[in-house]
Amino acid sequence: MTAVVEGLGVHVPPRIVTNDELSRTLDTNDEWIRTRTGIAQRHWADPGTSTADLATEAGARALKSAGGGECDAVIVATMTPDRICPATAPEVAARLGLPHVAAFDVGAVCTGFVYALATATGLIAAGIAGRVLVIGAEVMSAVLDPDDRSSTVIFGDGAGALVLRAGDPDELGAVGPFDLGSDGEGADLIEIPAGGSRLPTGRDQPARAQHYFRMDGREVYRHAIPRMVESSRAVLAKAGMQVADVDRLVGHQANARILNAVGERLGVPTERCTVNIDRYGNTSGATIPLALADAGLVAGDRVLLTAFGGGLTWGSALLTWPDLASA
Ligand code: UT7
Repeated sequence: MTAVVEGLGVHVPPRIVTNDELSRTLDTNDEWIRTRTGIAQRHWADPGTSTADLATEAGARALKSAGGGECDAVIVATMTPDRICPATAPEVAARLGLPHVAAFDVGAVCTGFVYALATATGLIAAGIAGRVLVIGAEVMSAVLDPDDRSSTVIFGDGAGALVLRAGDPDELGAVGPFDLGSDGEGADLIEIPAGGSRLPTGRDQPARAQHYFRMDGREVYRHAIPRMVESSRAVLAKAGMQVADVDRLVGHQANARILNAVGERLGVPTERCTVNIDRYGNTSGATIPLALADAGLVAGDRVLLTAFGGGLTWGSALLTWPDLASA
């Protein structure tokens, strides 16, 4: 038994923030952002809109695309939970009319959706759950330092979700295998330093800037490409597949240059690589489902997912695309 994709739904907040708009308050410009990242615009939530709000909408759309019905578990992959405690998933489950189901968050930063997909697949394969809603959702704009041009221009807000049900590995929609990894030596490369137990908000009065997201972009860039390439090769080897068998590469949308380099090194032709970072920026845990929705997938397509992010973490997965109507 494995997990089979049954529904997909995505949601982004309506407000579009262009590169020119950011250039009014930051020492940056449209040309730098486009050429260094491939980003033309991103969506940012209005103050008061939380990760749970975006997750609930994407989850509702995914359930609708799956024909409605119940789930046994809700998993939210996010690095911007509504609160440090409790997890965001139980509230999302309740708001979706799924009270009392198992609900928890997965914290693997930009690799979160792949980790959550693996967790859901494990729950289903073990017979612990029969149907799982997996959501990647972020309000990155809430944690960005308005004075940090290097991170602020990159990240966007959004959410995407898949409904998984128990099924047969030979069915269209079947998920797996997976390759997951981490390297905690790089924990400081992507972080929000304050607000956790190491630098608690109340006790040590950390400076305001330490509550913001920060990233050593250049160093992360150095790790991202080889990790995603190696992980992709590992998952293909587990499946006994060749790169030529992949119809569509759907990678974490961190930077168009990274995506192009990963595709090139793997030998996946450009037209089979999905890039939608131009419209959404890097939405961290939400990029994979947002990209799945934009990939123009047709039933039977063999899809390679690969992601890399804070932790450091990385992960890849294979799936065949089912015949479904995304909401
Ligand atoms: O999603 C999780 C994983 N994240 C990633 O994989 C992100 C990986 N990193 C990246 O995508 C890239 O490193 C960035 C897009 C973050 C930065 O691009 P880069 O080509 O690595 O630029 P850089 O950090 O090496 O900076 C080059 C220059 C610097 O100026 P000097 O020192 O050469 O004078 C920066 O100060 O660009 C400057 N710079 C900017 N200039 C205009 C940095 N940010 C900006 C900006 N506008 N927004």
